[in-house]
Amino acid sequence: MAGGPRERWTSKRGFILAAIGSAVGLGNMWRFSYLAAENGGAAFVVLYLAATLVIALPVLLAELALGRGSQKSPIQALTLYGGRRWKPLGLVFITSGFLILSYYTVIAGWALRYGLVAIASGFDPNAAERFGEVASGWDAFGYHIAFMAFTVFIVVGGVSRGIERTSLVLMPMLFALVVGLALYAATLDGASAGYAYYLKPDFSKLLSLNVLKDATGQAFFSLSLGMGAMLTFASYLGRDVNLPRAAMIIAGADVAIAFIAGLVVFPMIFALDLSADVGASTVGALFITLPKAFAEMGSVGRGVGILFFAALIVGALTSAISLLEVVVSSAIDSLGWRRRPAGILLGIAITALGAPSAWSTDILGVVDQIANNILILGGGFALSIFVGWVMAGSIEEARVGTADVAWFGTWRNLLRYAVPAFLFFVLVYDAIPSTFRAIAGLF
Ligand code: PHE
Repeated sequence: MAGGPRERWTSKRGFILAAIGSAVGLGNMWRFSYLAAENGGAAFVVLYLAATLVIALPVLLAELALGRGSQKSPIQALTLYGGRRWKPLGLVFITSGFLILSYYTVIAGWALRYGLVAIASGFDPNAAERFGEVASGWDAFGYHIAFMAFTVFIVVGGVSRGIERTSLVLMPMLFALVVGLALYAATLDGASAGYAYYLKPDFSKLLSLNVLKDATGQAFFSLSLGMGAMLTFASYLGRDVNLPRAAMIIAGADVAIAFIAGLVVFPMIFALDLSADVGASTVGALFITLPKAFAEMGSVGRGVGILFFAALIVGALTSAISLLEVVVSSAIDSLGWRRRPAGILLGIAITALGAPSAWSTDILGVVDQIANNILILGGGFALSIFVGWVMAGSIEEARVGTADVAWFGTWRNLLRYAVPAFLFFVLVYDAIPSTFRAIAGLF
C-alpha cells in the first residue's frame, strides 16, 4: 500500500476552484453549444437547467458525501460502505475515466492546434473544409499526445501542489476570458439574431424524449458526475467543509459559464451569418463555424479567437486533470502504486486508447455517446441508489457543519426515488437504444 497520510487540499477555496475546474470544460463550450444548436436553442437550455437542479445537483451532493465520508478513491469508497459486491461499480467508474479522457484530450488537442496556428499565422477562412484534416489522423494524434503530456505533468505534481495550484491560477483567468468575450460579442452587429435563437424557446422541441436525454446527459457530463471525479476530489477534503453549499457553488458556476459561453458563441455565429453551418451541427460545430467567424473578422478576430481558444484550452486542461486523477488515485489506493509512475503509465495507456478517436471524428462521436449515454447516466443511476439506500449515515455526512433542515430528507428521497426512476426511464427508452443505433451506424 502507498505510505503516508492521505493528500489534502490546502484551502476550501482551492477545493472549490479545482471542482469548478473539473466541471467547467469542453462540456460548457463545445458540447453545450452544439447540443443547444441541435436541439432548438432555448428549449434545450430550459431542460438542461431543470435537469441540473432536480437530477444532477442531488447526485453531486451524493458524490461529495461519499468521497468525503470514505476518504477513499471510488472502488474503496463503494466497498467501504457497501461491501465487495459494489466493486464492479467502482470498476465502471474507472473505465469511464479512461474512456472519456481518451477522446477528451483529442478534442482539447484540436483547440490547442487552432490556438497555436492562430498565434503563428491567423485563422484559416477555409476552416470548414479543412476541419477533417485537423481533426483526424496523425496531426490530431500529435496534439492529443501533447495535451495529455500537460495533463500528466500536473497530476504527477500531486493534489495540492499540482491540481490545486493550477486551478487557483487558471480558473479566475478562464472566468475573465469568457465574460470578456461575451461582452465583445454583444457589440457585434447582428448579435441579436443569435440571442433570439439562443434564448427564445421552440416549444415544439421541448418535450421530446431525445432532447430530455441530451439535456440530462449534458447536466451530468458538465458537472463531471457519474464516474467518480467529484467523489475523488471530495476524498481529499476535511470535515470542515459545508458540502451542500459547496455543491451549490460548483453547480452555479458551471451553469453560469455554460450560459455565458452561449452568449459568446451564438451572437458571433449569427452576426457573421454562419447559422446554416450550425444547422448541420456535429461534434465539429464549434471548430468549424467559429474559426470561420474569426477569420472573417480580420485582425480583431484573430485576437478574439486566440483568447477564445485560450479559454477552451484552460477549461479542458482543468477537466482532463480531474479525469486522470480518478484513475491515478485508484491506482495509488488499490494497487499501491506511487503517483508519478501511475500518472505516466496510465497517461500513456489512455493516449493509446484514444487513437481511434484521433483517427476518425465519427468514432469519437460514438465513443462520446457510449461514455455519456450509458456509462455516465448508468453510473449516476447506480450512485443515487447507493447513496440513497446503501450508504449508512449519508445524511449525517452531507450535513456536517450545517443546520438540520428539512430538505436533507427531500434530498434523500430524490436520491431514492425520483432520480433513479427518471434516469432508468431515460436510459431504457432513449439513451441505450440510441447509442446502439449510433454504434451500428459506424459499420
Ligand atoms: N465536466 C467536464 C466538462 O464539462 C468533463 C468531465 C466529465 C470531467 C466527467 C470529468 C469527469 O468539460
